[in-house]
Amino acid sequence: MYSILSGTEVSKAILFKAKNDLAKFDKKPKLVIVYVGNDPASEVYVGMKIKKAQEIGMDAELKKLPDNTNQEDLLTLVNALNKDSSVTGFIVQLPLPKHIDTAKIIGAIDPAKDVDGFTPTNIGKLFLGISEESILLSATPAGVIKMLEHYKVDFKGKHAVVVGRSNIVGKPVASMLLNRNATVTICHSGTKNLADHTKTADILIVAVGKPKLITADLVKKGAYVIDVGTSKVNDKLYGDVDFENVIKKAHCSPVPKGVGPMTVAMLLSNVVKAKMHQNPSSI
Ligand SMILES: NC(=O)c1ccc[n+]([C@@H]2O[C@H](COP(=O)([O-])OP(=O)(O)OC[C@H]3O[C@@H](n4cnc5c(N)ncnc54)[C@H](OP(=O)(O)O)[C@@H]3O)[C@@H](O)[C@H]2O)c1
Repeated sequence: MYSILSGTEVSKAILFKAKNDLAKFDKKPKLVIVYVGNDPASEVYVGMKIKKAQEIGMDAELKKLPDNTNQEDLLTLVNALNKDSSVTGFIVQLPLPKHIDTAKIIGAIDPAKDVDGFTPTNIGKLFLGISEESILLSATPAGVIKMLEHYKVDFKGKHAVVVGRSNIVGKPVASMLLNRNATVTICHSGTKNLADHTKTADILIVAVGKPKLITADLVKKGAYVIDVGTSKVNDKLYGDVDFENVIKKAHCSPVPKGVGPMTVAMLLSNVVKAKMHQNPSSI
C-alpha cells in the first residue's frame, strides 16, 4: 500500500538523461575528484562516483593525495583546477583530514566548477531563492527533492520536517522545500520532543547519522519519509529510519538503494549543468 521510494530507480532516469546530454557535447565534460587521506567510507563513495561517471561516458579523474597533505598544497591544487580549462567541474571529497580547514578549501573552489554545490556562493544563491536552474545545487539535497518530485509529491502548503541542520544536507534541503512553498520545520540535537514535530510531518527528511532514530511511532500515517542517514555497524549499512516498520504506515526510502544513488546521479547531472552554464553554445 505504501511506496518504497527507490533511489536506484529514480537515479537510472537521471543518469539516462545525463548520458543523452553528454552525447550532444562536442567535447566531453570532465569531472575531477580530489580525495585526501584514506577514509574507508570515502574510498567507496569516490569509487562509485568515478565508476558511474565512466559508465555514462563522462571523463572522470581521481586525484588521490596522502593523509599528510598540507593545506597550502591542497589550495594550490584547487586553484590549478579552477584555472584548468579541460576541467568542467571538481569536488573535494569530505571529510578532509582534521589538520585542513574545510571551509577554506571549499571557499576556494570556483563556484562555476563547484559540482558538489558546497561553496558559499552556490549555497547563498539557494538561500536567496535565486532560480535553482541557474545554480549548482548540493547533490544530496537536490537528490532528495528529485525523488519526491518523481513520486509526485505536492509540496505546496505541506508540513515538511527536516531532522538535521548540516550545511551539506539539512539546511539546503530545507531551503529547497521552502522554495517549493512547503512549511518547513528544522530539528537538531537541541530540539525538545522530536516526536511532536515529526508526527505532524507530511514530508519527513532525516539526515542525522543515528541508526533507527525515527521509529514508526514518530511518523504520520501516509507521510513521505526520506532517509538520508548512513551509518555502518559491523559492516552493515543502516539509515536513520526504522524502515521495516515505517513502511507499514508511510512511503519511505530504504538504505541502501535510497538517497545514496541519487547523490551520485545529481553530482553527474551537475557536471552536465556546469558545462552548459560555462559554454551554452557547446550543446
Ligand atoms: N547518502 C548520501 O549520499 C549521504 C550524503 C550526505 C550525508 N549522508 C549521511 O547523512 C547523515 C547526516 O549527514 P550530515 O553530514 O548532515 O551530518 P552532520 O553534519 O553530522 O549533521 C547531523 C545533524 O543531526 C543533528 N542531530 C544529531 N543528533 C540528533 C538527534 N538526536 N535529534 C535530532 N537531530 C540530531 C545534528 O544536530 P546539531 O546541529 O545540533 O549538532 C546535526 O544537525 C550521515 O549519516 C551521513 O553519512 C548521506
